[in-house]
Amino acid sequence: MGDELAAHYGEDLVEASRLSRSPHGRLELLRTRELVRRELTPGTLQVLDVGGGTGVHAAWLAGDGHRVHLVDVVPSHVRAAAALPGVTAEEGDARRLTAPDASVDVVLLLGPLYHLVEAEDRARALAEARRVLRPGGLVAAAGISRYLSLMAAGADGTLDEAMRDSVRRVIDTGCYDAHVGFVTTHFHGAEELSKEVSRAGFVDVAVYGVEGPSWPALDAAGDDAFGALCDAALRAARLVERDPHLVHASAHLLAMGRAPAL
Ligand SMILES: C[S@@+](CC[C@H](N)C(=O)[O-])C[C@H]1O[C@@H](n2cnc3c(N)ncnc32)[C@H](O)[C@@H]1O
Repeated sequence: MGDELAAHYGEDLVEASRLSRSPHGRLELLRTRELVRRELTPGTLQVLDVGGGTGVHAAWLAGDGHRVHLVDVVPSHVRAAAALPGVTAEEGDARRLTAPDASVDVVLLLGPLYHLVEAEDRARALAEARRVLRPGGLVAAAGISRYLSLMAAGADGTLDEAMRDSVRRVIDTGCYDAHVGFVTTHFHGAEELSKEVSRAGFVDVAVYGVEGPSWPALDAAGDDAFGALCDAALRAARLVERDPHLVHASAHLLAMGRAPAL
């Protein structure tokens, strides 16, 4: 699996700019940061950023004063993250963490769950997150909305007859065959993601829409319009972040839950 991901992500660190090179990426970063920050308890926390990539989230968490350790399967990502101030990093797999039991306050899983296409593998990654969290600790686990490619390709003019069946399939099954780019992955429904996180033993699980419904319009308007459109898009995202009718209009879903208190 590491080899397949290393081949996709490569050595040129395309992932490092994923959350800054497009309007929807910039919105994803702002909203993920605000949703996670909202749940963090006061004080210096031990954060394990699993599938943390090049450390885009690790960087702001370390900047906020937390102790951040990042785990990723792609060696070039780990090297980039390890160079960030206040961040340590190791090569590893979300399904087999090296951290001891009950040793961290926060686990971020912002990537592995959609790359793990088998449900048993996602369950293993969530069980590992649960194992390493202290009682009351926070898990934040990202999924990709099953409606992402419908919204992206429907808005940018690329949804043609040839793509129709693939778009329908991912909505119905979650099996994404890379028809709008990226790699073969699993896309989630909100209820499905909530169940997977709850089944791993987490409590108080809630699923949030990250970007809200405005992200395709932001992409269509282009980078130069981001400053003018961003505040309204953020407000729209907050207004419907838990709305069951619109949660899938976000490109990403973020499940947050707690390890049970003792
Ligand atoms: C799209 S990137 C997201 C990076 C970052 N967490 C973010 O939110 O911007 C997905 C990351 O998950 C990593 N990843 C995928 N499967 C993994 C696994 N089983 N264990 C650890 N990392 C994994 C990939 O190598 C990649 O760096």
